[in-house]
Amino acid sequence: MRGRRVLIGVSGGIAAYKTAEVVSNLVKAGAEVQVMMTEAATRLVAPLTFQALSQNPVYTTLLAEPKRYNVEHVALAQWAEAALIAPASANFLARLAAGMADDIVTAVLLAADCPVLLAPAMNPAMWRKPSVQANIARLTGWGYRVVAPGSGRVACGDTGVGRMAEPAELIARLEALFTGEAPLRGRHVVITAGPTREHLDPVRFLSNPSTGKMGYALAAAARDLGARVTLVTGPTYLAHPVGVEVVPVVSAAEMHAAVMARAGDADVFIGAAAVADFRPKHQEGAKVPKAEAATSVELEPTRDILAELGAAKRPGQVLVGFAAETGDLGAKVPAKLRRKQCDLCVGNDVTKAGAGFGHDTNEVVLYYADGREEAVPMQDKGAVAALIMQRATALLASRA
Ligand code: PMT
Repeated sequence: MRGRRVLIGVSGGIAAYKTAEVVSNLVKAGAEVQVMMTEAATRLVAPLTFQALSQNPVYTTLLAEPKRYNVEHVALAQWAEAALIAPASANFLARLAAGMADDIVTAVLLAADCPVLLAPAMNPAMWRKPSVQANIARLTGWGYRVVAPGSGRVACGDTGVGRMAEPAELIARLEALFTGEAPLRGRHVVITAGPTREHLDPVRFLSNPSTGKMGYALAAAARDLGARVTLVTGPTYLAHPVGVEVVPVVSAAEMHAAVMARAGDADVFIGAAAVADFRPKHQEGAKVPKAEAATSVELEPTRDILAELGAAKRPGQVLVGFAAETGDLGAKVPAKLRRKQCDLCVGNDVTKAGAGFGHDTNEVVLYYADGREEAVPMQDKGAVAALIMQRATALLASRA
């Protein structure tokens, strides 16, 4: 960290006291640190604490007499090589996601081009709220990186996901930004996402409720680890992730063809798409009038992309499957993992509130080919995706 210019933003959360440790350890490691605080943060920890630890003036207001620079919010933004907002409160995330610049911290971030890490901290019920998760999804979509909150007892006494990540993890994430840690650089990751549509005729199709959120989050996470990413996606309403090759398809047959044409050199394949298992045996080229429409449809199986890749797996390649199940995951997912010859299969019980199709959050269990299991608690799909990519990266490294 020696000589690195790190800008710390503190918003109003009890975890602000832990940020003092972050600043202290960054300075000890040789970084240049400047601190800016929201008004709420100054009520929880005195600016003087951060001034003493950073050995620099602390910025608390947008329109005060300049301490050091003429246009402080622009100068601070240009000075920073990286920024960390810790804690990032629910209110702060909402203001940032709304594009506001009504205090020194949001104004600096709006003017900044450097990478920004957000370390959310709040009560678990607040963290689960769709509004908070929507703000997180919006911010990560814009390139902000989120250090997912941990699980445990929070300041108000409740237990759950919402504790700010520990100072050591925050410093490790900052270090990774500077060392350009990109464990998947030079690797190709192919991901499927979204539903498929199996048309009966041009205006009618069979499909499922997948929105692509899980697969798109995986594509962004793989990109952030330095991979070249190909995202083969069924129809969704999501914005294409920046820096990812996106291949739109409609049917299972198109998805199969698109994957097979691109997965030959894939180091990691992840099947997050909800691919139709069956399609109508006959597809009409023109709309069938209601009076002539059949009341039953003859179906035929589609080709199983993941199973075919599993059967032809190259040495060193890592295959990650998903399994959308209802009920007992342990009874179903390991069998699916073996049948499709995956290295890792992500089981989600889609009957659980907040998990599976359409939600911004997911709760999953990871099943490994060697019999290990890992429960991943309910959190936003970006955080779940980051964790799955970490595990896939470790599997890849263990094969090298
Ligand atoms: O898109 P979201 O709204 O965010 O929802 C996410 C999700 C619930 C769709 C996702 O988390 C998920 O579980 N995806 C897999 C759903 C599924 O189709 O599971 P499955 O058990 O039917 O299939 C098992 C695996 O085989 C999957 O990796 C699937 O992509 C793959 N498969 C299935 C059939 C087929 N013909 N080809 C395949 O590759």
